[in-house]
Amino acid sequence: MKVIPIRTASSARIDLPPPPAAGLPLLDTRGRSVRDLRISVTDRCNFRCVYCMPREVFDKDYPFLPRGQLLSFEEILRVARLFVARGVRKIRITGGEPLLRKDIERLVEMLAALDGVELTLTTNGVLLPRLAKKLRDAGLHRVTVSLDALDDATFRRMNDADYPVERVLEGIAAARDAGFEGIKVNMVVKRGTNDQDIEAMAQHFRGSGNILRFIEFMDVGSSNGWKMDEVLPSREVIARIDRLFPLEPIDPNYEGEVAERWRYKDGSGEVGVISSVTQAFCGTCTRIRLSTEGKLYTCLFAQQGHDLRQLLREGADDGQLDAAIAHVWQQRDDHYSEIRTAATAKAHKIEMSYIGG
Ligand code: GTP
Ligand code: 5AD
Ligand code: SF4
Ligand code: SF4
Repeated sequence: MKVIPIRTASSARIDLPPPPAAGLPLLDTRGRSVRDLRISVTDRCNFRCVYCMPREVFDKDYPFLPRGQLLSFEEILRVARLFVARGVRKIRITGGEPLLRKDIERLVEMLAALDGVELTLTTNGVLLPRLAKKLRDAGLHRVTVSLDALDDATFRRMNDADYPVERVLEGIAAARDAGFEGIKVNMVVKRGTNDQDIEAMAQHFRGSGNILRFIEFMDVGSSNGWKMDEVLPSREVIARIDRLFPLEPIDPNYEGEVAERWRYKDGSGEVGVISSVTQAFCGTCTRIRLSTEGKLYTCLFAQQGHDLRQLLREGADDGQLDAAIAHVWQQRDDHYSEIRTAATAKAHKIEMSYIGG
């Protein structure tokens, strides 16, 4: 087969070997297969969460992508279909805030038609009252909502865009009314900023049917001023909740699940903790990310992406695109969370709002 070039983020050309035959498992250099595709559909957001899009950086001269640079829904579908043929079983639509992308329900409908794939979406929730029903009707299976505090002043400080907690709670309620079940609620915990709300969040979501997950503040991107002192280890989160509402550990739902699960002993539901800083889970990481402008990233902490859009727009056929995808995955050696140091935390990394959470 003809060797084809792929451009990386810095536009270097890499010569591709032929891909492994279709049907053979695609493994990276650490023996991990590709199971989850996370697709960022916009790098913009109506929030300015302090850990993700700090206002000082993103309201200055941040180079948001012009519309023409975004992958079209048709281009996204084409890439997604090739990944599904290579073993992807879960697709998550992210951003930025994915509900800001015009006609997002059309993309949901297109992706929901792919066989054997669970389709999910992560949102800050404020547009759900308007869109939840449309998304459900379009075939979205699950939804995850970010919410970092129950106390209104604390929440406004976290989102830094003056959104009240009520707007997100209305979004969660709208998702339930639209028929979504087992909605996951993600709280990023920043010690000294919102950790005083851990117990209130646990109390609020106990018995609600929603699954609250606490996420350790990560050094993703280069703009959030991450410091280890501001990470509250998940084991402390669990200890604090357990004191009020006794907990016991439960098995993961599937191998490689990011969240560690705990259930309330009184049967009022479960919580999860995502401990990428204190307990890395790179060994089972089967995730790949497609950025808004069509670059593939094999790690959340990557410094370089692989440009698929160029190939798509140069008229590559499916075989050539598949070769590119296979090559990127087979070269993959990422395990950033296992080798994090104060120095790596300062390195220039891609922003989460661009690459997709
Ligand atoms: P489901 O089990 O399908 O609900 O998804 P999930 O557990 O993967 O959860 P989700 O996709 O909502 O991810 C939750 C959070 O975990 C993200 O927003 C990130 O903060 C973190 N996270 C997810 N994937 C990774 C990863 O590959 N590496 C690291 N370091 N963190 C991740
Ligand atoms: N640390 C941990 N999680 C983060 N997210 C964004 N930035 C960070 C960070 N620095 C995740 C949160 C949020 C989702 C959209 O992205 O889970 O809910
Ligand atoms: Fe927006 Fe989500 Fe980032 Fe907050 S964490 S700024 S809601 S993309
Ligand atoms: Fe995967 Fe990179 Fe996260 Fe490790 S740090 S779990 S390799 S995305």
